[in-house]
Order: sequence, then structure tokens, then C-alpha cells
Amino acid sequence: MRSTSVFRCQACGRETHKWYGRCPDCGEFNTMVEERTVPSGSSTRRGVPVGPGARPLRLHEVSSGDAARFRTGLGELDRVLGGGVVGGSLVLIGGDPGIGKSTLILQACHALAETAGPVLYVSGEESAAQVKLRADRLGLGAKELFILAETALEAIEAQAAVLAPRVVVVDSIQTVHLADLESAPGSVSQVRECGGRLMTLAKTRGTTVFLVGHVTKEGAIAGPRVLEHLVDTVLYFEGERHATYRILRAVKNRFGSTNEIGVFEMTGTGLREVANPSALFLAERPRGVPGSVIVAALEGTRPLLLELQALVTPAHFGTPRRTVLGAEYNRVCLLLAVLEKRAGFPLQSQDVFVNVAGGARCQEPAADLGIVVAAASSYAERPVAVDVVVIGEVGLTGEVRAVSGLEPRLAEAAGLGFAAAVVPRSNLVAGVRYPLDVKGVASVEEALGLLVG
Ligand code: TYD
Ligand code: MG
Repeated sequence: MRSTSVFRCQACGRETHKWYGRCPDCGEFNTMVEERTVPSGSSTRRGVPVGPGARPLRLHEVSSGDAARFRTGLGELDRVLGGGVVGGSLVLIGGDPGIGKSTLILQACHALAETAGPVLYVSGEESAAQVKLRADRLGLGAKELFILAETALEAIEAQAAVLAPRVVVVDSIQTVHLADLESAPGSVSQVRECGGRLMTLAKTRGTTVFLVGHVTKEGAIAGPRVLEHLVDTVLYFEGERHATYRILRAVKNRFGSTNEIGVFEMTGTGLREVANPSALFLAERPRGVPGSVIVAALEGTRPLLLELQALVTPAHFGTPRRTVLGAEYNRVCLLLAVLEKRAGFPLQSQDVFVNVAGGARCQEPAADLGIVVAAASSYAERPVAVDVVVIGEVGLTGEVRAVSGLEPRLAEAAGLGFAAAVVPRSNLVAGVRYPLDVKGVASVEEALGLLVG
């Protein structure tokens, strides 16, 4: 039975029977992607079982026993998953090639195989011998860890049926394929269809399935994003290639909170959990230098201290440059405009560079005041005191607005030896004892008066 193909614009959803370089509807370039539709009756059609099993149940009749969790042995991974792996869930781990996804998942597989039962690790990218070499290097050798070098999804399903593992890992989803679909492995239709089949495997057998997905370079769309709506949990593994630490971030989680992060360090013998990430990010900070400010960000439920750096130098060409690494570009431009208009800093004639040190990322509004203070400190050539953290959202009129989760941020700062904090005045509650010396400010001018003079 032949499948028919249609092309769909990934920007506006327009469907056509012919490929266009530019979408006839929305005019975007390179967004048409081939999709194959499988005719009904074909074996690859994802059918919902019909019959008594599919009868509606009263809510109290539904057993929630399946949602039992088991630990992976990697505390940081368990945290990001919301307290362990949920039986029968489908988890996608995305990230750039070479960032350490296979290493992370192999370490988790080893621990799960020791505690939870058989684990099937399917590698479509490396041979079984290569996986073994890696496992030896990492010192992993669980008896119940099974390795299968296979890319045909039908064969993977058959092996999973025989072994009945607790956990199946498919590394990577872009290498597996269904014979019934004509498109190449890694194409949108293959990734989507294979993802759907593995979803069925997870839901009908109660096996937890981990999918590894490479984030493809800009323009190619068949990356993990096409699966995000389908899976229960989406984790992204990120980090700078040259830095040793890696951050695991939950961007979707049906069984826990999102924006939770886990921090790891890549060592010669695999990934090591970092118990105190703030200390890691502040390890190399300069002291008593203009343009460096410590902010207390909140990632999910975890506070994280980060160093923001700004460098303001006279511009030599017409339009001043704004270069931003790790923070949001538009937000920084807005904050520089506030600094110019409300505090009288002539930034129109200055190039401004803003960087979150250590390759970290900080895109919360609570870091606004830190960015403003760092730029002002660099312009005025006056360092900010080394033992102060700065917290606050900045509005367009120069007002400093309240942030959420002030207590955990302050507790983290106090724990790392900071003596004082500049915070939004509207956050402060009379009579509360704070773990360090807090100064409330209501405007950018007030904060600059305190910190930069
Ligand atoms: P890998 O897990 O293969 O990345 P991915 O699956 O995301 O493509 O990790 C690749 C990099 O990690 C590789 O450049 C080498 C490095 N690495 C270490 O530094 N230490 C180790 O113990 C291992 C296994 C890998
Ligand atoms: Mg890999």
C-alpha cells in the first residue's frame, strides 16, 4: 500500500500537494516540510483499541497506581523529572550533538537497571561495542542493562515485547525508522510516526520510554520540537561546548513543575552532579571591578546566583552597538533606554556589551535591576560592593517592581556568604527577619544611588 504525501508549512500550517521554496500563504522561506499520510488499513496507522477496554470510567474508578515513580540514581535528573521517573511515561531529552545526552542516559540506565529492573538501551548511532567501551570508561556494568544496536522500529518493538523491560531508551529518535514510510530517517514524518509508535509502547505496556533527540541546526525542522506536543516530559540538555558544566532543563512536564534545572559537570569519567551550582558560577568572579554585579535568579524552585557583566565603551561609529550573551537582547535594549532616560546616562554614544558569566543563561525579569546596575557601574567606572546581590524587575518608568520567591533567593545569597541585598521595596514585609541586610528600593535612581553612588 503506498502512502501519499502532502507538504505542510511549519510556520502557518498551510497544506499543499507540491513543494514550494516559499509558502504561498505566509511568504516564509524554507518552511514547507513533506508529510506522508498513511492510508487507513495500513499497519502503521495508530489505532486506538475499540471495545470494552475503551469504555469511559468514573474518575474515582481510575487507578493512579501507574504513576509510581522510581529513582534514576542521579539526583539532579530525578529533580528535573519531578522526583523520579514515572512508570509508563514518555520522556524526550533534546540537546545539541555532543553535549552529553548519551552519557547522561547511559548513566541513568545503569542505575535504573540496578534498582528498577531490565533496561533496554537501543543505540541507532553507535554499535554495541562502542556503547560497551563508553560504559567501561564510565565504570558501568549493571547486569540488567541490555544493549541493542538497531534502527528499524518494528525490530525494536519486537525486542521490547520479548524482554519486557521497565525502561526503553531510543538514542536517537532521528536514527530510527519505519519501513512503511518512504521518507528518510530523521524526516518530520518518520520522527513523528516513530514517536507515536513509541508512545503507544509506553502507554500500553507501562514501560517508560526515553527518546534522545538532536537539536538540528537552524532551518531543519525535524528535531525534537516536532515531538514536544506528544510526549509527557521534555528535557533539554544544554551547555557551552568548551565549558565543563551542563544544565538539564525541563520545558514541559506532565508529572512535575517546569523550569526546574539540574546541573552536571562533564568529567573524564562521565557526568557528575553539581550540588552547589551558585558556587560554580561565581568561582571565577573578579572582585572590585566595575561592571560586575551578582543577581539571584530563580530556576524553577531553585535559586541560582549568577554574575552579570557589562562593558560600556565610547562608540566610534554612528549607531552604538549592543551585544548581549546569555540574557534577552530586547530586554537589555529596553533597560539601557530606561537607564538613559530615567537616570541620565548618555548611552546613545556608547557601545554596550552584556554577558552572563560562565556561559550561563538568565532571562528572568528579576535580573533587570542587575543589568541596569552593571551598565551604570561600567559607565561610571565604579565597582559595586562585592558582598551585595541585586534583585528586582525594572519597568519603563524606572520603577523597581516586586519579584516572586524573594525568600529562597535571599537564603541562597546568605548561604554563599553575601552580606547585603538590594531588593524591591514592595517585596519587603514589615517585621520579617531576613537572613542578610536588605535594602528596599522603589526606583532605578534609588538603587544606583545606593550601589554606584
Ligand atoms: P555524548 O554523550 O556522546 O553526546 P551526545 O549523545 O549528546 O551527542 O558526549 C560526547 C562528549 O562528551 C564527547 O565530546 C566526549 C565527552 N565525554 C567526556 O568528556 N567524558 C566522558 O566520560 C564521556 C563518556 C564523554
Ligand atoms: Mg549520542
